[in-house]
Amino acid sequence: MREIHLTGRPDGVPTTELFTFVDVPPLVPGPGEALVENLWLSVDPYMRQAMDTDEWWPLNTAGEGRALGRIVRSRTPEYAEGDIVFHTQGWRTHAVVTPASSRRIDSVPGVPLSAHLGILGGTGLSAYVGLKRVLNLQPGETLLVSAAAGGVGTAAARIAKLLGAGRVIGTTGSDAKAKHLVAEVGFDAAINYRAGDLAAQLAAEAPDGVDAYLDNVGGEHLAAAIDVLRQNGRIAWCGAVSTYNHQAGVAPRNLFDIVGKELRLEGFLVRNNLDLRPELIEFLTPHLRSGAVVSDETVVDGLDRMPEAFLAMLRGENLGKMLIRL
Ligand SMILES: NC(=O)c1ccc[n+]([C@@H]2O[C@H](COP(=O)([O-])OP(=O)(O)OC[C@H]3O[C@@H](n4cnc5c(N)ncnc54)[C@H](OP(=O)(O)O)[C@@H]3O)[C@@H](O)[C@H]2O)c1
Repeated sequence: MREIHLTGRPDGVPTTELFTFVDVPPLVPGPGEALVENLWLSVDPYMRQAMDTDEWWPLNTAGEGRALGRIVRSRTPEYAEGDIVFHTQGWRTHAVVTPASSRRIDSVPGVPLSAHLGILGGTGLSAYVGLKRVLNLQPGETLLVSAAAGGVGTAAARIAKLLGAGRVIGTTGSDAKAKHLVAEVGFDAAINYRAGDLAAQLAAEAPDGVDAYLDNVGGEHLAAAIDVLRQNGRIAWCGAVSTYNHQAGVAPRNLFDIVGKELRLEGFLVRNNLDLRPELIEFLTPHLRSGAVVSDETVVDGLDRMPEAFLAMLRGENLGKMLIRL
């Protein structure tokens, strides 16, 4: 049984030297508990924020993280050996869970298990909450999505099209990813934000402006979106990944334009919108089973490569949700 521990606090961009692998004595479940062998682990941008704080990620411990695993020993009547569960003890091969600290995953025929960390999991739910509950996206509307090639971004495009969105425009960090977004994911247009002035590129792709923006990036992306949003446009603020390494300020330079353009900006946390999960699963499952929708994923094999995969995701080397398969 192995864990990955954080051994120091990053100064700016983190490196793999901040992580160490620790072999731990076999875990033994007590009464009411079960032992889980992890199968899939998630790496997420918020973990970079967690690395900065003692409360969120104490040094010399394995971090929290979303995980899917198989029950290999059960001392609770609620789980049988072989059951698949979701829990939040990531960065390790095994965990001891209780029914209260975990959730059984009922397999859906034709849907890969990993989708429960991707489009059917918190990632897809973030996109769904942003589009449905916060933006109240209407058929025919023009939508802008940043970090479009990532987990939330790809899920957002697929869900938005199912909701009847009009033009869906994404931003990402390379020409190859932009091409992929249009060819494979269903975006109508995709912009490489590294290729030139973002606001100018957006204005060229949306000459009549955009109605709604799902912001995963913050900083200059949010400023450019404020420039290109129509009067009364809406922003769902999901994340600010451009700022997590402290490389940029979070607040946009043109924040006051929100007044003149009568925009609405609303942040949200997926964990406070879990009531929408059954609706998302019911909505997406037929499309996943028919193959009309896929859970976009980049899969890296082995716990040993998890720190590397986490840092690669922060650099933008993933297409879709970045996952570790054990
Ligand atoms: N509010 C919530 O409850 C909630 C829940 C889940 C996720 N989130 C947020 O949603 C966002 C996306 O999360 P995710 O899990 O789907 O991650 P992701 O998009 O799969 O991965 C992060 C992506 O961010 C992009 N990126 C990195 N640095 C950037 C920069 N300086 N400027 C612009 N883009 C940059 C990279 O793609 P490029 O090639 O495009 O640069 C990278 O692939 C994050 O901000 C995350 O914190 C919020």
